[in-house]
Amino acid sequence: MNILLLGRGKTGSLVGEVARQRGHDVQVVGAAENVNCSALTAERLRDVEVVIDFTLPSCVTAHIEACVAAGKNMVVGATGWHGEADRIRKLVESHGTGFIYAANFSVGVNLFLEVARAAAAALRHDYSGQIFERHHAHKQDAPSGTAIAIQRVIREASAEDKQENLEITSFREGDVVGMHEVVLESAADRIYLCHDAKSRQGFADGAVRAAEWLAGKKGFYDFKDVWREL
Ligand SMILES: NC(=O)c1ccc[n+]([C@@H]2O[C@H](COP(=O)([O-])OP(=O)(O)OC[C@H]3O[C@@H](n4cnc5c(N)ncnc54)[C@H](OP(=O)(O)O)[C@@H]3O)[C@@H](O)[C@H]2O)c1
Repeated sequence: MNILLLGRGKTGSLVGEVARQRGHDVQVVGAAENVNCSALTAERLRDVEVVIDFTLPSCVTAHIEACVAAGKNMVVGATGWHGEADRIRKLVESHGTGFIYAANFSVGVNLFLEVARAAAAALRHDYSGQIFERHHAHKQDAPSGTAIAIQRVIREASAEDKQENLEITSFREGDVVGMHEVVLESAADRIYLCHDAKSRQGFADGAVRAAEWLAGKKGFYDFKDVWREL
């Protein structure tokens, strides 16, 4: 595929490497070449089949609006915009494009979401729960999009009359790639669930495979619902 990759930071640079290894043509655009979305006009995007975004919360919404308006499919890994997901879904549907997003494109974290969903049964048995997340000191958003996704699946899986958001505590330190913990505690015992990313490789693999999966599709997709099909 002809891929336009937005962001050549810690994750974006690895996404570019994986995409090239998998035989795609990749053009990379950083902040300086994309002031006010100047790299995202219909003319500049004409030959692009999919745009992959690993930029920052401060600019990702503008990128989504420009690329969708130009009729381009998108894979969005940048976080910090999911509160606007309903509006973006309508935008995507009205333009008839394909869009897939995840706070975390790694298969491991998506399996972890399923483990957390199963563990939510504890909340019906006098357990209380908490979520802890740790990331590198430069991460711009808190809590992490992954922690919010864990909180949401647990809320949705807990009893209807007892739906509550578990408290999230965020730590920003050193160069931690991303660690998420769910702790469920009763008077009798304590359950620890932990996912610890050793590198960014899982995010990059998942994002490129999501772009391949999206080819020729229309609609608004959450990666957690489709990763088993990859
Ligand atoms: N979904 C996932 O699996 C996943 C995994 C990891 C991270 N993330 C998210 O992905 C985002 C990036 O994380 P990161 O750790 O890679 O951050 P990072 O190292 O700070 O990289 C961000 C990059 O965005 C670029 N950028 C900023 N504004 C831009 C613009 N208008 N157009 C094009 N590029 C622009 C910057 O380019 P310059 O270098 O040119 O300034 C920088 O290289 C964050 O939101 C993070 O939460 C998601």
